[in-house]
Amino acid sequence: MPSPPPQQPALPILEHEDEIMETVEANPVVVVIGETGSGKSTQLSQILHRRGYTCRGAIAVTQPRRVAAVSVSRRVAQELSVPLGDEVGYAIRFEDRTSEKTCIKYLTDGVLLRESLSDPELKQYSVIILDEAHERSLNTDILLGLMKRLIMNRASDLKVLITSATLDGLKVSKFFSGCPVLNIPGTLFPVEKFYSTERPTNYIESSLRTAIDIHVKESPGDVLIFMTGKDDIDKMVAKLEERIKNLEEGSCMDALVLPLHGSLPPEQQVRVFAPAPPNCRRFIVSTNVAETSLTVDGVVFVIDCGYVKQRQYNPSSGMYSLDVVQISRVQADQRAGRAGRTRPGKCYRLYPMSIYQNEFLEATIPEIQRSSLAGSVLYLKSLDLPDINILKFDFLDPPSRESLEDALRQLYLIDAIDENGRITDVGRIMAELPLEPSLSRTLIEANELGCLSQALTVAAVLSAEITFRPIRSKVMEGKRKRQGLPDGSGWGDHIQLLQIFESWNQTGYDPGWCSDHELQVRGMKFSKDVRNQLSQIIQKIAKGPTDVQVRRGQKSDLDYRKLRRALCVGYGNQLAERMLHHNGYHTVGYRVQLMQVHPSSVLGGDEYGQLPVYVVYHELINTTRPFMRNVCAVEQSWVEPILKKLERLDIHKLSGRSSASKDPEYLEDEQVSAPKKATDAQQSEVDC
Ligand code: CDP
Repeated sequence: MPSPPPQQPALPILEHEDEIMETVEANPVVVVIGETGSGKSTQLSQILHRRGYTCRGAIAVTQPRRVAAVSVSRRVAQELSVPLGDEVGYAIRFEDRTSEKTCIKYLTDGVLLRESLSDPELKQYSVIILDEAHERSLNTDILLGLMKRLIMNRASDLKVLITSATLDGLKVSKFFSGCPVLNIPGTLFPVEKFYSTERPTNYIESSLRTAIDIHVKESPGDVLIFMTGKDDIDKMVAKLEERIKNLEEGSCMDALVLPLHGSLPPEQQVRVFAPAPPNCRRFIVSTNVAETSLTVDGVVFVIDCGYVKQRQYNPSSGMYSLDVVQISRVQADQRAGRAGRTRPGKCYRLYPMSIYQNEFLEATIPEIQRSSLAGSVLYLKSLDLPDINILKFDFLDPPSRESLEDALRQLYLIDAIDENGRITDVGRIMAELPLEPSLSRTLIEANELGCLSQALTVAAVLSAEITFRPIRSKVMEGKRKRQGLPDGSGWGDHIQLLQIFESWNQTGYDPGWCSDHELQVRGMKFSKDVRNQLSQIIQKIAKGPTDVQVRRGQKSDLDYRKLRRALCVGYGNQLAERMLHHNGYHTVGYRVQLMQVHPSSVLGGDEYGQLPVYVVYHELINTTRPFMRNVCAVEQSWVEPILKKLERLDIHKLSGRSSASKDPEYLEDEQVSAPKKATDAQQSEVDC
C-alpha cells in the first residue's frame, strides 16, 4: 500500500488551472513557464487527468534525468493515493514500473524516443509533456523536433506541453509556429546575495566554512550546497559532519547532512524529500540536480560554488572531457532562487560579482552542441522520415556540421549506414537495442560469431554504468589482483569484466562474494538485471537461434578470441595502434589523437612491449591527459577490413550530397576523410 498522501500543496500551477486548461483546449502545443517548485512536474499531469484527458490515452511526462522520473512519479502516486506502478508509474532505461492501468507515465526523454520507434505516432498518449525543457538535454532537443512533425499528423487528438523553469519561451514558441506561452507567476521571496571578494583556491573548504558560519549564526532553515559531482559531495558530507561534531555541545541546533545526486540509492533519495526533524537543520549537499530538476523544500540558505561538472565531446578527436566549468548566469540565478521558496533567503556565491557579470555565459550550452551524435543520428535515420536529411533536421539549436559528420563517419565504420548514408539492415537492428551504437553492433556481430552470451554480459556491465572497481588507484589494482579476481588473461578490461561476472555467476550470484571482493553489490545486481533485459530484447529481434545463458567454466583463449573479434567490429570507430618505441597509442581512422591506456585499466600498468599492438576502446577521455578507458586487445587481420572502409569513406556521399563542388565549405572536410597516422613529432608529445 502506498504511504498516506502528503498534504496537497498550494502550488502556483494550481491557482492557474483554468487558464492553463483553456489554453490547452484551444491549442495543440503550449509552452508553460514557471519557477522551479511551482508544480509543473507534479501537478500538470494531475490537472489533465482530472479534466478527462486520460480517457482517450495516457499522459507521458518526460524527464531528462532518471532520478527525477522516479522521484516525481513516486510523489504523484502518493498524492493520488495509488500504488506506484498502477495508475501512476515510471519507465527509465532498464527499469519499467508501469502496468496496463498506468495513465500517468513519467519517463526519461530517451525512453520516449525509443517508444516512438515501435509506435511512431505515439498513439498510446493523448498528452505529451516535455518537462524540464530548459535543461536542453540531447534527447529533449530531438523530441522537440519530432513533436513538431507529430503534431501535424495528430493535431486533433494530441496535446503537447513544453514546460520549463527558465527557457526562452519566445524562441520555443517561434519554433512551434507561434504557440502560446503561459507564464505562471511564482511566489519567490527575495533572496539576498553575498559575493566573495575573490575565487577561493579551494571551494570545498570555503563552502565548509560558510556552512558552519550559517549553522552557528543564522536562524533555522535548511542549507543547500551546490557541489560539482559525487566525489566532492562525499568529501563535503564527511568533512561537514566532522566539523559539526566538533562544535561545542548545545551551541547550535541539531544537524543532518544529506547528499543528493543522480546515482544515489533510492532509499537515500527519499530522505531528502522528508521534512527536517524538529529542532534540526538539514544540509543538503547536491549536484546541479537540485537546481531545477528536484525541489527540496525547507531551503533558506544556498551556497553556490559557481561550478558544474560538464561532459564535453570533441568531434575532431572523438574525445570526451569531464570538465569542471563555470556555471551560466541562468544557473546561478536558479541556484539562488532555491533559497526563496518558503520565506526570504540568503545565497552565498563563492565568486565575485564581476565574475558573475562578465565571465559567466548567459545560458548553458545545450547538450546537443557538446555530445557525440552517433546514437541520435542512427535513431533519426531509423525513423525513415520522408524528406529528412540529417544535416537539415529541424533542431531548436542545430549541432555543428562537424559533429553531425563525425556521427555519420562513426556509423559508417560500424556498418550502421552504407556509403551513401542510408541505414543498413544491421543499423536497423542496432537502433532497436537500448544501447550505444558500439555495443549494439558488438552484440549483432557476437550473435553471428556464436559468442552472444559473453557479449551480452560485457554490454550489460558497461551500460549499467557501474564500475567493478570500487577505487581506481593503482594500489587498489594491486590489491584486487591479490584478492584473486580474474585479470582479463592479458586481453584487457572487457574480458576481465566478463570473467568477474562469470565468477560471480558461479557462486550463484552470492552478494557475499561481491563484498569479499570489494565490489558494489547494488551495481552488480543491476548489471545482472540489465543483462536479463538485454537477453529478452535480443531474443525478440534476432533472427535464428540465440544463446544467452551465462557460461560456466569456459576460459579458453579461443573463446575470448571470438568475443574480441566482435568487439573489434563494434568498436571499429574506436580503434588504436601502439606507437613505435613507447607505450602510447594513436587513433586509427579519420581523426588523429594520441593517448594512453588509463591507469585503471587492467592493461594500465603494463610495460612497453607487453601492450597489444592494436586495441579498441570503450571511451576516450581527457583527464590529466588523453586516456582510453576499457580497452581490449584485437588482431591486425580484423583491423584491415576497417582500414579498407576508411579508404572508401566519402563524406559528401555519406551526408547525402552529390558533389563537393556545390559547396566549397566541404573541401575542408574532404581532407580529413582519409586514414591518418600520427607523425613522429606528435608521437613524441606523448609523455611516457
Ligand atoms: O516542476 P516544478 O519544479 O515546477 O515543481 P514540482 O517538481 O512539481 O514540485 C512541486 C512540489 O512538490 C514542491 O513543493 C516539491 O518539493 C514537491 N515534490 C516532492 O515533495 N517530491 C518530489 N519528488 C517532487 C516534488
